[in-house]
Amino acid sequence: MERLQKVIAASGYTSRRKAEELILNGQVSVNGKIIKTLGTKVDSADQIMIDKELINRNPKKEYYLLNKPRNTISSLSDTMQRKTVVDYIDTKTRIYPIGRLDYDTTGIIILTNDGELANHLMHPKYKIEKTYIAKLEGILTKEDIIKLEKGIKIDDRKVEVKRFKVKRKNIEKNTSIVEITIIEGRNHIVKRLFESLGIHLMKLSRTGYAFLNINDLKSGEYRPLTIKEVKKLYSLK
Ligand code: URA
Repeated sequence: MERLQKVIAASGYTSRRKAEELILNGQVSVNGKIIKTLGTKVDSADQIMIDKELINRNPKKEYYLLNKPRNTISSLSDTMQRKTVVDYIDTKTRIYPIGRLDYDTTGIIILTNDGELANHLMHPKYKIEKTYIAKLEGILTKEDIIKLEKGIKIDDRKVEVKRFKVKRKNIEKNTSIVEITIIEGRNHIVKRLFESLGIHLMKLSRTGYAFLNINDLKSGEYRPLTIKEVKKLYSLK
């Protein structure tokens, strides 16, 4: 017997958190009966439906690494019909992104139908490192860099900076390029970090996610993850 939300996530339908929302909304039935209680146990013979659609309890798992282009949203659908990250991947499987990048942020995003992996990687306790290259309007002072490295508080919680490097400065244009590695997943966190120092972030790209790099993938290109990479993601502690 397994918990209903876990079984839904394992089916690849959605993440465990979203599955819990579906259950609470009364969209999930087990053997024809709507179930609204989180943690209800089901066995392998039970028929689970979401919005009257039977879920496939044993789908093939798919994993992709996409170089997200600018002006693309990281959710599954958009009320304004904008292009989503899923639109770039040629598959019939219902996949979704692990975490989010802003509409105007480019770079690495992982898409999968493996709810357990999504759950694993998004859990704060696993502290997945994410590396970003940012173009800033302004030049950071020594004091700014010390503050960053010590950890600036945003909404009363310190942002732990694992690595930070100024890669280029253009004094004439008053811009700089920096590389920053953090373990955070909060929304707009890199923008907010620099804004808290009074510096506007002009461009942002995620170049690293755990041990994965963007390497030669061009904007809008993607590749499947190897089995070895998936195993390694699962083993991150
Ligand atoms: N931080 C941001 O500000 N934006 C992103 O897309 C990711 C991290």
